[in-house]
Amino acid sequence: MTKNRTCTPPSLELELEDYNPDPTIRVVMMPKDSNYMGFIFGGVILSYLDLATSEEALVRAGRRVVTKVMREVDFIAPVEVGDWVSFFTRVKSTGRTSVVVEVLVVAHRGERRSDLVKVTSAEVVFVAVDDAGKPAPIMGPDD
Ligand SMILES: CC(C)(COP(=O)(O)OP(=O)(O)OC[C@H]1O[C@@H](n2cnc3c(N)ncnc32)[C@H](O)[C@@H]1OP(=O)(O)O)[C@@H](O)C(=O)NCCC(=O)NCCS
Repeated sequence: MTKNRTCTPPSLELELEDYNPDPTIRVVMMPKDSNYMGFIFGGVILSYLDLATSEEALVRAGRRVVTKVMREVDFIAPVEVGDWVSFFTRVKSTGRTSVVVEVLVVAHRGERRSDLVKVTSAEVVFVAVDDAGKPAPIMGPDD
C-alpha cells in the first residue's frame, strides 16, 4: 500500500500551526489563470487572497466590509497550473471599524497534493461600512 506522505518545509509547518487546519478557500489553478509558460498570474492569486480574507473579516465584523489596504504581498514561489491552492486566514486585530486579517497562501503539488509550498503571506485591512459606504462600527458577537 502506498502511504500518502506529505512533504512540508519545517518553517511552513510552524506557520500553519497558527491557522485553522481548514483553509477559508481552496482552488485548483487552471490554464486560463496562467501565462504562456504555465505559471499563474499574481493578480489571480491576489483576487482569491482578497476573497478569502474578506470572508474572514465579514464574519468578524458582522456587516459589509471593504478592502482598505493590502500589505506586502511578496510572492516567494510561483504557482503552477494544476496546483491546489489554499488560503488560510485569521483575524490579527480589530479596531472600531477595521479588521486586520492575516493570510497564508500554500500550494499543494503533485498527484497526491502532498508537496506543500509557501506562495506568500500578507496582511489585509478591511473597513466595515454602512449602506452609504461610510465607516461603521464592527458588530459585537451578540449584535
Ligand atoms: C474604506 C473607506 C470607507 C474608509 O474611509 P476612511 O476615510 O479612510 O475612513 P477612516 O479614516 O474613518 O478609517 C476607517 C478605519 O480604517 C483604518 N484605516 C484607514 N486607513 C488605514 C491604513 N492605511 N492602514 C490601516 N488602517 C487604516 C482606520 O484606522 C479606521 O479604523 P478604526 O475605526 O478601527 O480605528 C474609504 O477609504 C473607501 O471607500 N475606500 C474604497 C474601498 C474599496 O472600494 N475597496 C475595494 C477596492 S476595488
